Amino acid sequence: MRTQVGIIGAGPAGLLLGALLSKAGIDNTIVERQSGEYVLSRIRAGILEQTTVDALISAGVGERLLKEGIPHEHLSLSFAGQLHTIDLPKLTGGKTVTAYGQTEVTKDLMDHRLAAGRQTVYEAKDVSLHDLTTAKPRIRFTKDGTEHEIECDFIAGCDGFHGVSRQSIPKEKLQEFSREYPFGWVGVLADVPPVSPHAVIYGNSPDGFSLCSMRSMTRSRYYVQCPITDKVEDWSDARFWDVLRSRLPAETANAIITGPSIEKSIAPLRSYVSEPMRWGQLFLAGDAAHIVPPTGAKGLNLAASDVSMLAQAFAQHYAEKSNEGIDGYSARALRKIWRVERFSWWLTSLMHRFPDTEGFGQRVQEAELDYLMNSVAAQTTLAENYVGLAG
Ligand code: APR
Ligand code: PHB
Repeated sequence: MRTQVGIIGAGPAGLLLGALLSKAGIDNTIVERQSGEYVLSRIRAGILEQTTVDALISAGVGERLLKEGIPHEHLSLSFAGQLHTIDLPKLTGGKTVTAYGQTEVTKDLMDHRLAAGRQTVYEAKDVSLHDLTTAKPRIRFTKDGTEHEIECDFIAGCDGFHGVSRQSIPKEKLQEFSREYPFGWVGVLADVPPVSPHAVIYGNSPDGFSLCSMRSMTRSRYYVQCPITDKVEDWSDARFWDVLRSRLPAETANAIITGPSIEKSIAPLRSYVSEPMRWGQLFLAGDAAHIVPPTGAKGLNLAASDVSMLAQAFAQHYAEKSNEGIDGYSARALRKIWRVERFSWWLTSLMHRFPDTEGFGQRVQEAELDYLMNSVAAQTTLAENYVGLAG
């Protein structure tokens, strides 16, 4: 087999890259370790920046998103028993974000790919990358017991944090930066109307962080901060709803409609960046190269930003015979990534209770929240990062 761009991973990064390349007339094949159903069963965040919405529209997959996505013109922070709401378009020259689940984005991209007749190999086993520093890099894998090889011009590593792509780069060529946070999030998905259908609520209370989000007018997504050592079994539905309510202002807490969870999981919080994002003809994008804590909902948006830059670079290579975009990809992507890493780390630090923070750190956090609520400049900084920075 042969293709122009071989893509490892059919998460949002790999699928969106495939759609953008196909649109530019560039042949591509996706190789994914899991089944399509498994990929779709993973529940992730659901807030899209305008630039992500634009990338999906330009890839030809915006139709359902434009119909079913729910624009959020506000962002709410709750602390000290009060809810404070920030007007996003007012502070950002008209920008908003859109509530639309990552699962739906992935489904739209998969349907579009299938309809376009582009090749995706699901359930590929023992995926390995070869000859990365030559002009003909190769992907090998086993499918249904038979070995296959794809010869490519380029390989895009979109296979997430635990994928094979980053691991195929010699260790001494990479520099890794990471920070682990001393807590996790318990997340619950439930078929109940959201308490805040037009703004995500980020809550900081003496007992820890909480978050109110949604997938539709009848499906809600809620999270609470928990010790890193907790297991899902420690969180009955009843305990989850009690803790969530106890961490929000009374008016919000009383308005929450509870119901049985249809999904419940615990995720650790981590910041991670690996540099550079290129090795020979291999280019990393999305979680394969970086992780942000979910505070701020930047994971999917950052993956979309990477692959938009990468698709542009490949298009320039094929259409204009120029390698300027390809050669500049890593530096350009990392400049954006570090700004988003900074914001995600900052919002995480602002809104969580840190078990190891002493009185001084706590007072500084309270002072920062006080400053934020009384300064248009500080709110503008938050709003402009939340709706998404330009590349
Ligand atoms: N070979 C082939 N595919 C692989 C391999 C491998 N060795 N390892 C992992 N994969 C697949 C995974 O099964 C997954 O479907 O790569 C895909 C990576 O998808 P994500 O983890 O979703 O990463 P990405 O597409 O970069 O999305 C980034 O979406 O998943 C969220 O938290 C993530 O919000 C972030 C954004
Ligand atoms: C979600 O809807 O799952 C969500 C929203 C905002 C976040 C994180 C997750 O910051």
